[in-house]
Amino acid sequence: MSRYTADSRDRVRDAVDMVALVSGRTELRRSGANSYFGRCPFHEERTGSFHVSPDDKLYHCFGCQASGDPFNFVMETEGLDFVGALEALADRFGVALETVDEDPEAVGRRARRERLHALLGRAAGYYARYLWEAREAAPAREYLLGRGLSEATLREFRVGYGPSAWDRMLTVSRRAGFSEEELLAVGLAQRSKATPGQIYDRFRERIMFPAADARGRVLGFGARAMRENQRPKYLNTSDGELYHKRSQLFGIDLARVAAARAGRMILVEGYTDVLALHQAGVANAVGIMGTALTEEQVNELERVVKVLELCLDADRAGQEAMLRAARLAEGRKLELRVVPLPEGRDPAELIERDGAPALRSLVARSTPFVVFHVERILERADTRSAEGRDRALAELAPVVAGLPASVLREDLLRRVAGRLELSEGRLASLVSAAAAGRLLTAPRRDAPAPEPGAAPTRPLADLDQGVRAERTFLVTCVASPEAGERALARIDPDALLTSEVLRRAAHHLTGRLRSPLGELPAEDEELARVVADVVARAGRAGPVGPEHIEHARLVLERARLDRAIRRARVQGEAGVGDLARAREQVLQGIRRVVAQLERAV
Ligand code: CTP
Ligand code: MN
Repeated sequence: MSRYTADSRDRVRDAVDMVALVSGRTELRRSGANSYFGRCPFHEERTGSFHVSPDDKLYHCFGCQASGDPFNFVMETEGLDFVGALEALADRFGVALETVDEDPEAVGRRARRERLHALLGRAAGYYARYLWEAREAAPAREYLLGRGLSEATLREFRVGYGPSAWDRMLTVSRRAGFSEEELLAVGLAQRSKATPGQIYDRFRERIMFPAADARGRVLGFGARAMRENQRPKYLNTSDGELYHKRSQLFGIDLARVAAARAGRMILVEGYTDVLALHQAGVANAVGIMGTALTEEQVNELERVVKVLELCLDADRAGQEAMLRAARLAEGRKLELRVVPLPEGRDPAELIERDGAPALRSLVARSTPFVVFHVERILERADTRSAEGRDRALAELAPVVAGLPASVLREDLLRRVAGRLELSEGRLASLVSAAAAGRLLTAPRRDAPAPEPGAAPTRPLADLDQGVRAERTFLVTCVASPEAGERALARIDPDALLTSEVLRRAAHHLTGRLRSPLGELPAEDEELARVVADVVARAGRAGPVGPEHIEHARLVLERARLDRAIRRARVQGEAGVGDLARAREQVLQGIRRVVAQLERAV
């Protein structure tokens, strides 16, 4: 993978002036012949635990144990990968890098990529000049400056304007020696549908935002409409050889260093949001361009920072995006925080209206993601009815249960108890019951099999399919209480269910579906766990139709008849024929309900 020679790497290391490099981050003082020290750039401290040995080209912090060579230093402080750090240092200390001899095919691929990068870089330069110089770009200039963006910011981000003529980009690029095939490959041109064989400029009469990679190489464009009825509002480069929307973070090249230094990155939705924040002195911001955060973007961000500040629109899409981001961040080293944007405002508008300090103070007031999540569930909950409170509780319990003991957790529990009219003690025990239920019913895959004959302390731990179907029946009943009551009244739990604890749960739930967690007998902890689990699952399932309940009931009925048939056969009893006919009827019933369900979707 390493395409530069080991010799190049060593020459760069030799050329680096360690003291100059580190001094860009922290003030150093001399403490010996080959030793400098200062405050550590990697952790907060008042004393100087950070040591640099210029001759050995090494650094080490006695406080946080950060250590490494010049490449590590640049990777850490600028959020670059090794090759990026090598290139940055070679640039800075004037070393020419040599690439290893590669097979001709790899050389060809690289040469092509370099040409495509060059083409896109030239295009960005052309559009930018056009924005500032062309007469037809005057409305675009006015629009951008009128939105409070300064010329310096616009130039820094290389914002440009695409001419209205159909072939300006084609012409200048061809003149510079690029082929039609290359123009098509990077998405600057497209084929005409009307005239086969004809190609034309893709971006016309649009404000051009170049999307670059972490090293600042342009990969594609986001192009904003200028005319009233010009659709779409944003026309983006399609995915191709170089551009991949999923891994793109708008502004990453300009945000990287500030973010690595701050340890956090602010995520916003739009191009203009990034520019406005940058101009307001908040340089550690990137745009996710109106899409859901992707795995690829999170991978990139995880290399640069520990904390993500979600500064997304307060509308539904923005909120959904935050929940999805949380699922992506789960199990990673990333901490998620939410910046409380007022409804209907994006960061760019906020700065325009209320000024930069207003936005900076909003960012400073960001809250941990879990607070946002809990507030959101409480906001949507119908806390007037016992049923609504139970549903909210079922949704909240796993969220709060995941938190380690902390002031934050206590604080949230207090808030939730207040809203759901529960005592804090009662709430805490329901939350841990839900947590336990979740652990019990979702065993880790690698959990050891229970010892034969061991006490059944984990009743639903390894649900076989039959017992799972029994639980599903109860879940659908809880999810749709009215139809659920009717279904529960019709069945005999002791005949239909094989799981002892689910039988108890069915008896408990009968007549109590409107408030399933109420009146749980204090002495039956197992029952409390299972009911809490069933309620939590129902909450996640959302409301279901009566056909779902009927389907779940028929599945159990079929299983009951199967058991009866087996027993009858073993014991040589008569009546197997009747049972088999009954079973056939149940099967028909199942087919009927399935057909109904399929029609419904
Ligand atoms: N977006 C897109 N395609 C669209 C609409 C939006 O790619 N058809 C992306 C863009 O990255 C845009 C972001 O989603 O910046 C947010 O959309 P929106 O809020 O509509 O745009 P703004 O950034 O607010 O643009 P402006 O300030 O120019 O209105
Ligand atoms: Mn917007």
